[in-house]
Amino acid sequence: MGIDHLRIRVPATSANLGAGFDVFGIALEDPFDIIEVKKSWKVQIKVTGRDSEYVPADPQKNTAGIVASKLNKPVKITIHRGIPLSSGLGSSAAPAAGVAFALNEMYDLGLSREELVQIAAEGEKIASGAVHADNVAPAIYGGFVIVHKNRIIPLMPENIGIVAVHPEIIVSTRKARAILPGRISLDDLSYNIGSASSMVVGMIRGDIGLIGESMENRVIEDRRSRLIKGYAQVRRDALKAGAAGVTISGSGPTMIAVCRMDERERIAKAMTQAFSENSTRSEAFITTIGRGAERLY
Ligand code: HSE
Repeated sequence: MGIDHLRIRVPATSANLGAGFDVFGIALEDPFDIIEVKKSWKVQIKVTGRDSEYVPADPQKNTAGIVASKLNKPVKITIHRGIPLSSGLGSSAAPAAGVAFALNEMYDLGLSREELVQIAAEGEKIASGAVHADNVAPAIYGGFVIVHKNRIIPLMPENIGIVAVHPEIIVSTRKARAILPGRISLDDLSYNIGSASSMVVGMIRGDIGLIGESMENRVIEDRRSRLIKGYAQVRRDALKAGAAGVTISGSGPTMIAVCRMDERERIAKAMTQAFSENSTRSEAFITTIGRGAERLY
């Protein structure tokens, strides 16, 4: 008898890492969503947990529902949310990636991980208005990924400390994309290529210092930081507390710092304190680069 019920753990993700706009992404060990999929007669969605009241249960408006419809599989999907909504931590990517992963297992579809990423990215398009796979790819593969020309190049660096601090500020990905310029200067392009290339070497070597320095970027961060109250102080205080680098997670407003594992608590405290001094409440996730989607039973 085939499987008719699956539970998947699917992680939060952080895209861009500074200079790798729409190209780099990492999976975080924490937070994560749990996605349950059950065979049914039509696509149905139930959402529970964190911010669930704001997530559409209409399958055509929900990233997970779109993936199930695209794969033509009538299933009841329950999303147990742990990833904060509109946070820049891949909250719309996780259910899309989780359902693509689950349906591939449940119906033995034989889709490769690259194909799953493409399907999940199409589902995620409704959230941001554009197809970008830098959240769904790490959600499926885990680790650090490079997304380029429909190819995913994964790496699995270990023991990289990550502090992700989510302030109570609403930033929509659509808006955060709309404020970016259509063109950048050759000088800025060259700078960002330097940072992005160094980031890849940092990930290969597991060199936290190099990863942190390589988060420096031009244009994207400068524009988006204006949407994050307290950005400059949070960044400065995180670096002062020992972070190797700080950047905006995806389209924000979460800010992530990279550091040694034993420095995370101190940096988390400095970052939340800095937000608080800017009259903004925030929550810190003390985490690391972690696993991709996996079956729980
Ligand atoms: N790369 C995308 C962006 C990620 O920065 O707009 C959105 O989370």
